[in-house]
Amino acid sequence: MFDHDDVPSNPREGAVSLEALVQTRISRRGLLGGAAGMLTLAPVLSACATPPDGGSSPLFDFMEIERGGGVTHLVPDGYRADVLLRWGDPLFADAPQFAPAAQSSEAQRRQFGYNCDYIAFFALPGARRRRALICVNHEYTIGSLMFDDYANVTEESCAIERAAHGVSIVEIELVNDAWRLVPDSGFNRRISVETPMMLTGPAAGHARLATIEDPTGRAVVGTFNNCAGGKTPWGAYLAAEENINAYFLGALPEGHKEAGNHRRFGLPIPAEMAFQWGRYDPRFDLARSPNEPNRFGWMVEIDPRDPNSVPKKRTALGRIKHEGAESVVAPDGRVVLYMGDDQRFEYVYKFVTTGRFSASDPDRNRDLLDEGTLYVARFQESGELEWLPLVYGHGPLTAANGFESQADVLIETRRAADLLGATPMDRPEDVQPNARTGRVYVMLTNNAARSATQTNAANPRASNAAGHIIEIIEPDGDFSATRSRWETLVLCGDPSRGESGARWNMATSPHGWFAAPDNCTIDPRGRLWVATDGNEATGANDGLWAMATEGAMRGTGRAFFRAPVGAEVCGPCFSDDGRTLFLSIQHPGEGSTIRAPSTRWPDFDAATPPRPAVLAIRRVDGGLIGG
Ligand code: FEO
Ligand code: CA
Ligand code: CA
Repeated sequence: MFDHDDVPSNPREGAVSLEALVQTRISRRGLLGGAAGMLTLAPVLSACATPPDGGSSPLFDFMEIERGGGVTHLVPDGYRADVLLRWGDPLFADAPQFAPAAQSSEAQRRQFGYNCDYIAFFALPGARRRRALICVNHEYTIGSLMFDDYANVTEESCAIERAAHGVSIVEIELVNDAWRLVPDSGFNRRISVETPMMLTGPAAGHARLATIEDPTGRAVVGTFNNCAGGKTPWGAYLAAEENINAYFLGALPEGHKEAGNHRRFGLPIPAEMAFQWGRYDPRFDLARSPNEPNRFGWMVEIDPRDPNSVPKKRTALGRIKHEGAESVVAPDGRVVLYMGDDQRFEYVYKFVTTGRFSASDPDRNRDLLDEGTLYVARFQESGELEWLPLVYGHGPLTAANGFESQADVLIETRRAADLLGATPMDRPEDVQPNARTGRVYVMLTNNAARSATQTNAANPRASNAAGHIIEIIEPDGDFSATRSRWETLVLCGDPSRGESGARWNMATSPHGWFAAPDNCTIDPRGRLWVATDGNEATGANDGLWAMATEGAMRGTGRAFFRAPVGAEVCGPCFSDDGRTLFLSIQHPGEGSTIRAPSTRWPDFDAATPPRPAVLAIRRVDGGLIGG
C-alpha cells in the first residue's frame, strides 16, 4: 500500500471514448467473457472465451490454504518457506550486522533495503552447484516502523531512508535444498538514491531534464520508489519508478512553466505526506530544483551481471507512475513491454521496439529500449482494444497543444495520452504477457473513486473496492499488434455478497477469491499467479493465489500463500525450473508502529521490528510449485 496511488490527478477521470458513449451499454460482453460456470450475481452469462491453444496449461495441484488472518505466513501442506533476505541483512562479507537500535546510513548502504518489491531471477552457469542472481526492488521506507523516534527527522534518518531505497542485486546458491546468499560474490551490489545513472533515449539531454547540478540533462543521481519491474529477453533488469511525487517538498514559483506538468503527476503534495529529504538536499525542493521531478518516473535498465555498469533510464518508455514493464518477443523479433500507470483513472501502455532482439549478438540488444513506439490503450465497449501511438506530430501531439518534440510527449506522457482519448482505468498495476498463449493480464487493483456515471465495459463497477483482472488477446499471438481484443477474467471480491458484483468461476472455493490484485507472474508451465495488496479490506490477510485462465476452470482462484498481517505480497518470481517461488513480503505490520507492532515477522524477537523480507518457497519433495 502506498497512499499516493489512491489520489487521482487525471482531470479526465472516468472519461470514456466517443465510441463508447454512442454505443449501447446493454451488451457488456467484455465484462462477461469468462468460461461457462462463472459464479455471478448479475442476471446474465455469456459464452466462454476459448484460449487459442484450447487450454494447454496443466491444472494446479496443491492443497488450498485457508483464508484468514494472523501474524505469520502460511503455505500449503507439503511446502516450506525459507526466509532468504531481510531488511538489514548484510549483503557483503564486510557489511555490518543489522542493529535496529543503532542504524546508520553507512551500514544501510551495505545491507538489504526496506520494503522489497519486484524480484527477478537470473540463473548463473555452474557445474557443481546451482547459482543465480536475484534482483530485488526496495520501493519505499516506513519510518514509523524503522525508527523509535521517527518524529525527530534528521539528516541522518533521511540518509538511512535513502540508502534503504533502490535495488539489491545478489548472488544466491542452492545448498541442501535451500537457497542462501553468497556474501563474498563479486556480483553483489546496492543501487540507491545515491547511485549515478544516465538518462537515454529521445528525452535525454532536453532542457526540461537539465538542472543546476546537471546542465547536460543526461546524468542523474539515483532511483527511488522502485515498485515492480521486468526482465528483458537479453537478461537485463528493469526497475520501475512509481510514486516519485512523494519525494519533493515545496512548491514551484507562481506561474512556473512546469506547473501544469507537475500537477498532472500529483505535485506538489502536502508536506506531511512527503519524504523530508528536501530539508537537507535542495534537489528534492521544488522551489530550488523545479526540473528534478522530470528526471524521475522512468523505467531504469540495469545490467545485473556487471556490478560496475551504469543504470540507464530509458525515456522512450514514457514518464508515468510506472508499476513495471514485463516483456515478450513478438513473432517478428521486436520486443514488446507492457506497462501500467498505477493511479486511479490512469492508463495501460505498451512499448514496441524498432529493432529486433538478437539471441546471438548481445551488442544489438544493448540499446533496444532507446528506439520504438509507445502506445496507450483505448478499451472499446465492443471488446476491441486500440493501441494509440504517442508520437510527436501525430494527431493532437503538436505545438498547438504544447508539444515541441518527442521529448515533450515523453516527459508529459500522461497529458499526451489524455489528448489521444485513452481509457482511464481502475489503477493499473502489473501487466503480464503470456508468451505461450498470446494473452496479456492486466491487474486493476481498485478504484473507490469511480462514480456510477463513470463506469464503462472495461471498468464496470462504481466504487470498485475489490478490483478486477482484464485479459488482452493479441491477434494470432502478435504482441506488436495495434488492434487487439479484451475480455474480463474476473471481477474480484466476495462472490457470496450480492452487492459486491464479484464474478468468479463457480469452482472457486470460499478461500479462492480475493480483492486488490497487484503483482502477478506466469510460471514456467504457463500458469497465472496473482498477489494482492489490499485484500485485508475483506477481513483476511493479503496473499498469493493461483489463477486458472483456460478451459472449464477459467476464472477459478486457489489460495496458495497467506502473508503476515499488514503485509502485501510482491515480486512473485519462479526459478527457471519452476521448483522455487520467491516472494517479497512488503510492509509487515503496516498500520502499526515500532512501539507496538502488529507483528514482529519474521524474527519474532522482542528487540527486532517487523522486517520486510524475501521468502524462497519450495516443495518438501523438491517438485514443481503448484503441481
Ligand atoms: Fe507500488 Fe503500484 O504498487
Ligand atoms: Ca505494488
Ligand atoms: Ca504490482
